[in-house]
Amino acid sequence: MIETKRWNIRNDETYNKQAMDQAADQIKNGHTVAFPTETVYGLGADATNEAAVAKIFEAKGRPQDNPLIAHVATVEQLRRLVDNFPPYVEKLIDVYTPGPLTFVLPSNGACAKNVTAGLSTVGVRIPDHPVAQQLLQLADVPVAAPSANLSGKPSPTNAEHVWDDLYGKIAGLLDGGSTGVGLESTVIDCTQDIPVILRPGGVTKQQLEAVVGTVMIDPGLANEKEKPKSPGMKYRHYSPEVPLLLVAGTVARMQATIDERQIKGNRVGVLASEQIARQLHHVEIRNLGSNLHEVASNLYDGLRAFKQGDVDVIICEAFSEEGIGQAVMNRLKKAASEIIR
Ligand code: TXA
Ligand code: MG
Repeated sequence: MIETKRWNIRNDETYNKQAMDQAADQIKNGHTVAFPTETVYGLGADATNEAAVAKIFEAKGRPQDNPLIAHVATVEQLRRLVDNFPPYVEKLIDVYTPGPLTFVLPSNGACAKNVTAGLSTVGVRIPDHPVAQQLLQLADVPVAAPSANLSGKPSPTNAEHVWDDLYGKIAGLLDGGSTGVGLESTVIDCTQDIPVILRPGGVTKQQLEAVVGTVMIDPGLANEKEKPKSPGMKYRHYSPEVPLLLVAGTVARMQATIDERQIKGNRVGVLASEQIARQLHHVEIRNLGSNLHEVASNLYDGLRAFKQGDVDVIICEAFSEEGIGQAVMNRLKKAASEIIR
């Protein structure tokens, strides 16, 4: 058990600077600090310090073969971590950094070897969040940071989620309120002539194609028999405390599934868009919002909201896979114990 310091970095400018300095010092001294990004909270440590990075794996209970993303503040710092890359990467950097996009590029070995889990590539991202930006600038080292949740649980989208999972296991937590995008960055393999999406996320396939033309999707994402190219995607993930049923189709199908479960004596919690939520009856509902961006932003909080002891099963609407919906459904399919079509 270690003492976890919590800094509130909203509102007060002077206190903010002091808090940011303290947090950056923890990183420089080889300790772990959780911080907000525009996607989800990350658990950071100095990416050049193997012992510091090891603390991340230990706090999260993360499998050792799952590499971490190195976070940097500037494009110049990004270049210091990688070898030569294809020209299209420059275009993506121009348009989508800072932002929710992680580039998998040939590593030049600057990061500690447990960051890349022994791979010849490294994932690098420039987050678009003032707190993350300031922390990276002050720490002045690349910061390895997975999502700041216990391995297997939904990623944290506010400081409470991080506190629930990691209190006593990390040196500090910068509380910067709720994150915006709500789902993790898009991970894109940029080591070949055509970029390949390894994990759908905050930047959509259409947005990437608008800049570089053809973008492929790792076949391992859609096809259960194929091994995903991104080590992290093979794990079951994002699990809520109770089983989750993902229901495709009409409102009537959802209501029937709810009724069936309640007749069995199950306490049911529902996650649905505002449009669907309005039409369901006799059940506790968390409204995830009226468009796919709101659903993405509220999804992980929704998954964490229904606790064991309060409900026996979560019934969740299956959303459109258009745009950001692709990332929403990728996470929900992994979270689901059953998909009802
Ligand atoms: O939005 C995000 O990406 C957040 C915030 C904190 O930046 N981070 C995040 O990290 O989601 P994590 O560790 O939870 O997910 C990183 C994913 C994993 O699936 C991992 O396997 C993959 O990126 N990854 C990292 N480095 C890789 C590499 N060199 N090659 C292939 N996949 C890689
Ligand atoms: Mg994660």
